[in-house]
Amino acid sequence: MRFLSFATCALAAFSTSLAAQNLSTAGIEALVQRRLPSHANDFVFTLTNSPSSYTPTNTSTPKPNDEYTVSNAPNNAIHITGSTPIALATGLRWYLTTYVHVDIYWFIGSRLHLAPQTLPRVNSTYHGSSIVPWRYHFNTVTFSYTTAFWTWQDWEVELDWLALRGVNLPLAWVGYEKILIETLLEAGFSQNDLASFLSGPAFQAWNRFGNIQGSWGGEGLGMEWVEGQFALQKKIVARMVELGMTPVLPAFTGFVPAQIGEYYPNASFVNGSQWNGFAAEYTNVTFLEPFDPLFTTLQKSFVGKQSAAYGNVTSIYTLDQYNENNPYSGDLAYLKNVTTNTIASLKAADPKAVWMLQGWLFFSSASFWTNDRVEAYLGGVENSDMIILDLFSESQPQWQRTDSYYGKPWIWCELHDYGGNMGLYGQVENVTVNPIQALANTSSTMIGMGLTMEGQEGNEIMYDILLDQAWSAQPLNTASYFRNWVTQRYHGSASLPIGLYTAWDAMRQTVYNNTQISIAQGVTKSIFELAPNTTGLLNRTGHHATTIQYNPATLVAAWRDFYSAALQDPTLWDNPAYTFDLTDITRQVMANAFNPLYSTFIAAANSSNNATHSPPTAAAAGTKMITLLSDLDTLLHASGQPSFNLATWIASARAWASPSSQIPPKPNTSSIASIAKYNEYNARNQLTLWGPTGEISDYASKQWSGLISSYYIPRWELFVNYTLNGSPAKNGGNAPLAKALLAFEEGWQVQVWGLAEGESYAQPQAGGLASAVARVVRCWPGVFGGV
Ligand SMILES: *[C@@H]1O[C@H](CO)[C@@H](O)[C@H](O)[C@H]1NC(C)=O
Ligand SMILES: *[C@@H]1O[C@H](CO)[C@@H](O)[C@H](O)[C@H]1NC(C)=O
Ligand SMILES: *[C@@H]1O[C@H](CO)[C@@H](O)[C@H](O)[C@H]1NC(C)=O
Ligand SMILES: *[C@@H]1O[C@H](CO)[C@@H](O)[C@H](O)[C@H]1NC(C)=O
Ligand SMILES: *[C@@H]1O[C@H](CO)[C@@H](O)[C@H](O)[C@H]1NC(C)=O
Ligand SMILES: *[C@@H]1O[C@H](CO)[C@@H](O)[C@H](O)[C@H]1NC(C)=O
Ligand SMILES: *[C@@H]1O[C@H](CO)[C@@H](O)[C@H](O)[C@H]1NC(C)=O
Ligand SMILES: *[C@@H]1O[C@H](CO)[C@@H](O)[C@H](O)[C@H]1NC(C)=O
Ligand SMILES: *[C@@H]1O[C@H](CO)[C@@H](O)[C@H](O)[C@H]1NC(C)=O
Ligand SMILES: *[C@@H]1O[C@H](CO)[C@@H](O)[C@H](O)[C@H]1NC(C)=O
Ligand SMILES: *[C@@H]1O[C@H](CO)[C@@H](O)[C@H](O)[C@H]1NC(C)=O
Ligand SMILES: *[C@@H]1O[C@H](CO)[C@@H](O)[C@H](O)[C@H]1NC(C)=O
Repeated sequence: MRFLSFATCALAAFSTSLAAQNLSTAGIEALVQRRLPSHANDFVFTLTNSPSSYTPTNTSTPKPNDEYTVSNAPNNAIHITGSTPIALATGLRWYLTTYVHVDIYWFIGSRLHLAPQTLPRVNSTYHGSSIVPWRYHFNTVTFSYTTAFWTWQDWEVELDWLALRGVNLPLAWVGYEKILIETLLEAGFSQNDLASFLSGPAFQAWNRFGNIQGSWGGEGLGMEWVEGQFALQKKIVARMVELGMTPVLPAFTGFVPAQIGEYYPNASFVNGSQWNGFAAEYTNVTFLEPFDPLFTTLQKSFVGKQSAAYGNVTSIYTLDQYNENNPYSGDLAYLKNVTTNTIASLKAADPKAVWMLQGWLFFSSASFWTNDRVEAYLGGVENSDMIILDLFSESQPQWQRTDSYYGKPWIWCELHDYGGNMGLYGQVENVTVNPIQALANTSSTMIGMGLTMEGQEGNEIMYDILLDQAWSAQPLNTASYFRNWVTQRYHGSASLPIGLYTAWDAMRQTVYNNTQISIAQGVTKSIFELAPNTTGLLNRTGHHATTIQYNPATLVAAWRDFYSAALQDPTLWDNPAYTFDLTDITRQVMANAFNPLYSTFIAAANSSNNATHSPPTAAAAGTKMITLLSDLDTLLHASGQPSFNLATWIASARAWASPSSQIPPKPNTSSIASIAKYNEYNARNQLTLWGPTGEISDYASKQWSGLISSYYIPRWELFVNYTLNGSPAKNGGNAPLAKALLAFEEGWQVQVWGLAEGESYAQPQAGGLASAVARVVRCWPGVFGGV
């Protein structure tokens, strides 16, 4: 049995010891008070673990799996027992989803308040148990793609979402720059050094990784941002601890301003490698060698300041030195030296320190990271002092080839998407079957399961199912999982229209069942988000696949079932989960419909093929392409969903432009205007050019109202015009068009969302979706097949 072997295995050190675990029910009681205030007295929570068996300083006791029970209590109350506060939260969600059919969702928020006055009794006592001691959440880049401009209110919903889903090991990067700046200033660096080192508010993740340095497109990172994020992090970490989670906090990585030689002429440092074609001033980040004594000095300074700020709440540190940049030497002794000294610095700062490493590098730079190098690199650290995130387990697992990371404890992670891209997509078999197989593997040192999405996007069911799989020893039955999820999502019992179920079941077997990772490894992109071209857009595979992995007609059929549900039950129009999902599925149907129009256009515009060449057909197809995008933009706006709207992202970025008395502060003086403009540039640039001149253009593209109309449509108009009237493409390239596109793209970066002083960003009105969908159905009978 897997569970027995786990209890005796050597990685047991991974224990309770790592955090000042909060053994109070206060966190879960506060969650109920926040989300279900009228039921504050209807739940009785009991922790079953006595504090003495759970002492944080004893490293020889492995962290056990979490357990809970749910039963009836007197006075119509529900009694939940749990081995930890997170077990209590998971038990609460089991009850709320199973019996009350309510949950908290990304973008939609908490639906828990829909619980009826009298809570249902449970049929019998239910017992739940996790199959792994740790459930993890976040990727370093999520802090830029998703949460860069979040407020405390956004974080509160997120943390409740995590607690209810049993996550006990969240990454916690917010506010890092405050501690780093203090550490570097104390070490003698100047404000100017820091200004040329730190990256903008939408790009910090890659600065933290040592991929990039400095900021482009404005005045640089300001202290109002740094202070505001720091204030936010204090609340985030405290809430994580209150809910019973062990936060994973940052550490000093070794990346320093390039001026280090001026202050420490004898220090050992190297010039890091170039990243994604960025100019040297923005990359080749300076790396202080871990064997240099200064490294430990800075580590102690950093960790000390951090624990002074947030308390001694964790001993798990995230630390990545080569995430997408290779060591300057592949020499085995050198690689081992780096890790030996890095962990020694952490231990000097915190004797209980454990190093958490994102295992992305072993996949993304697999040609450098040969097995002997991986083994040498990991070999510098005791097995019990490290956790590896097998970052992309559903598509590119590395644990097999590295023999479970040569004995290091590791976490099975679902990555799912790049850059928060929006495309309906999933690998429903791989995320249910594969982690169970990995756990059963006799030599496996797997200790957790988690989510490492680059951005939190749609497809929430695919993230839910992995976190729920962590509480089931058998692969979940996906058919019943989807069925129950629909009941919860739309808060129905017996009464939901059948079309909701048939739509999701059809998607389960198609859209959410990609098994060919050689074609698509993660969320697919729609070609209209890419820079227009006559070639190379369709049928892309791999990283950002554009290949649609199912017959688009099956999605149209699912869409029809889903849409018909509201014709049958019009109250669904007032159901935010329904309107969100209808918007999302309609979006995908329209996005898919762009491809055949594009193909028709290309064939008809191609004068070298007599069989298909037809200028009138090309002109008509070009017009249709633009009209389709325009109608999609209108629909997304009319949906009333802030998360499908560019204005939401830009407004949240601009709102971070003033001092930290409020989180985020509200711009109210003219001196703040230039900071707001800089933040807006950051927000725009990340979505589009991603770099000063399009270094990784369109990587983090989004299908948002406002972005389609102001960015993608003008690009396609240029393309259609040039292709029909301008200079034709030569050898697949069209230089005048490429120049015109870049000029347009660069101009877009510095636009300012026009607002007069004191004006606010009006959100689209709810309620417009029904007529907007009816309109596109009428206008695009060939796409929707008529209803
Ligand atoms: C730590 O836990 C182990 C196993 O429960 C126990 O045998 C040992 O006495 C404990 N050590 C301390 C210092 O409490
Ligand atoms: C509880 O019992 C009722 C009546 O037998 C049944 O319909 C329902 O499905 C049961 N609920 C659960 C969660 O087992
Ligand atoms: C646990 O959470 C409660 C409620 O927030 C708080 O009062 C208490 O100080 C926390 N304990 C620890 C050890 O953090
Ligand atoms: C940056 O790194 C690349 C290797 O990735 C190297 O070829 C280049 O010379 C470096 N540039 C500078 C200015 O150090
Ligand atoms: C954290 O622990 C260190 C070392 O044990 C101690 O010196 C420090 O006072 C503690 N900090 C806080 C905020 O409790
Ligand atoms: C690491 O390398 C440095 C520089 O070559 C050397 O001084 C040091 O002894 C090495 N440390 C270890 C632990 O190998
Ligand atoms: C994903 O699942 C499919 C179907 O079961 C399987 O063929 C494939 O090997 C799995 N992928 C990985 C990376 O395990
Ligand atoms: C997914 O596809 C695989 C391979 O075609 C098939 O074996 C499996 O039954 C499908 N699963 C679902 C849920 O449709
Ligand atoms: C893309 O794939 C589809 C389906 O296999 C095929 O019909 C089409 O010709 C391909 N298009 C291109 C441009 O490769
Ligand atoms: C296309 O049509 C033109 C004019 O009718 C003719 O000269 C040319 O040979 C044709 N090309 C092909 C490839 O059929
Ligand atoms: C494309 O051409 C149309 C018609 O001539 C014109 O209205 C439109 O402004 C042009 N768009 C761009 C981006 O050049
Ligand atoms: C289109 O793709 C080709 C081939 O990758 C490239 O050379 C060209 O610059 C791209 N852009 C345009 C506008 O042609």
